[in-house]
Parts: sequence; C-alpha cells; structure tokens
Amino acid sequence: MPTILDGKATSKALQDQIAEETAAFVAQGGKKPHLAAILVGEDGASQTYVNHKVKACERVGFSSTLKRFPADITEEALLEEVEAINANDDIDGLIVQLPLPKHINVTKVTDRIRPEKDVDGFHPINVGRMTLGQPAYISATPFGIMKLLERYEVETSGKHCVVIGRSDIVGRPMSILLSQKGNPGDCTVTICHSRTKNLKEMTLQADIVVAALGIPEFLKGDMVKEGATVIDVGITRVEDASKKSGFRLVGDVDYAAVAPKSEFITPVPGGVGPMTIASLLYNTMQSAKKAVY
Ligand code: GUN
Repeated sequence: MPTILDGKATSKALQDQIAEETAAFVAQGGKKPHLAAILVGEDGASQTYVNHKVKACERVGFSSTLKRFPADITEEALLEEVEAINANDDIDGLIVQLPLPKHINVTKVTDRIRPEKDVDGFHPINVGRMTLGQPAYISATPFGIMKLLERYEVETSGKHCVVIGRSDIVGRPMSILLSQKGNPGDCTVTICHSRTKNLKEMTLQADIVVAALGIPEFLKGDMVKEGATVIDVGITRVEDASKKSGFRLVGDVDYAAVAPKSEFITPVPGGVGPMTIASLLYNTMQSAKKAVY
C-alpha cells in the first residue's frame, strides 16, 4: 500500500513552527503579521476557503481582515479597494480569492496588488522571480506541494513528472518548480492539458503525476504506472445527499483505483489543500519580516 502524503499533519507542523516564529518576532518588538483577504460574491467553496485562511491566521497569532463585497461590485471599485490595502502600512499581505465574477478582469486585479504584499505570488514580478530561480513569494499551492514532497523525502531528481493542467496558479508554476535545480526538483517535466493527444501514454510514463485539471476522478487506475507518486490538486464539490453538508469533496484522482498502484499519494481532502494554507501563512510572515522585499 502507498505512503499517504498527509497534508493535514504536515500543514499543522508547519503552522506550529510559524506560530513559534511569530511569537518570537513579536516578543522582539516586531509587528504582528497581518493578512487581508478580499472575497467577492457568495460562492460557497470560496467562502469556505477564505474562512479557513482567516482561522489559520488566528491560530498562528496573525491579525487578519476579511473584506467582503457583493458579486456586482464594479472592477473600478474593487481596484480602489486593492489600492487602499496597498497603501495601508499595517497590512503585510493581500489575497483576492479567485474565481472573480466574469465582469471583472482577474489579471487587472492581481496585477494591481503590490508585489511586496502579493503573498499569493500571482503578480508578474513574483511569477518572474520564481521562474528565474530568484523566488520572492511562490504561489501557495505549488509551494505547498514542494514542501510536502520535501517533508516525505520523495525522490524527485531525474524523475519524469507529468503535470496535467496549465493554469497560472498551479499547473504552470508547478512545472517550473519541479524542473528547477534543487531538492525537490531536478525533474524532467511534461505539461499536459485539454489539447494533449494520447494523455494516457504520457501519464503511464510518469514517475510523478500532478493532477491539476479540475475534473473529478479524471486520473484512473490504468493511467498510472506501478510505484508512481500521485499528487491530487483537484477539489470539487459533488452532491451527496448522505452528507450533512449535502456534498462531498472529490479530487482529480480516482483514489480507490490509483492508490494501490502508487508509492506515495495525496488524499482529498487532507492532502494539498491544507498545505496551501501553510504556504500562505509562511509568505505572510516573510512579508511582515520584510525578508524578501
Ligand atoms: N482560488 C483557488 N486557489 C486559490 C489561491 O491559492 N489563492 C486565491 N487567491 N484564490 C484561489
């Protein structure tokens, strides 16, 4: 049976470390780290994620501000809110929870966040720095996956990694980080996406598969080779009347079929998701300490 890459436990350990570092920093007269989150609209999943982020701030001793706006806020008004937080010296990090309503240009909004406060690592300067191997803030999900691979000492050097999905916030940065020098890193990387032909031929060659395409249970048992490491970034709410919430969370991997063939695998929930939060807190602490800019 595989080793489960326990993101929940690893995230907790990292958060404990961040809490200790924060307490020491504040005891020495440092400013308490402060994360601001902007949430637009009523999307249930986004509300849950942002609430998790705010609670995590409390847990590690950060301040947090949650700014909520109706789905019909104009792009201009939202940009003004970003500017106000950019100008607020008490706030170290700002995230705008995605997705945003269709009438708002996401790039315009994320580009407006000052790179120094862009703890999500979405700004072109931070993406560029990561790409050049001079990282400032690395986008939280790929960063969390790297930390999970590190924690479990998953051998990545020289391995063939197939990333499924080319999103700005997961697939592309993941492919870059895994191809870079380092440990984890030094992989040979193939990026696959919706136009890829013979996807199964690709994934069958992979020592490491990162599934980040957002299609529940897409990666089947016959698509991975024996002994592969499987990272599941997907998290989709699927209706389930037997659950109190009315839904269950399903990853991009058909876990029951893939797990028996894997050497390492992340569960959903409790795998990549909690690591994203630990990374965000880490970036916010770095910002409060003025460690990168
Ligand atoms: N939506 C899904 N993942 C993320 C993330 O890492 N950051 C933000 N801001 N929104 C998201």
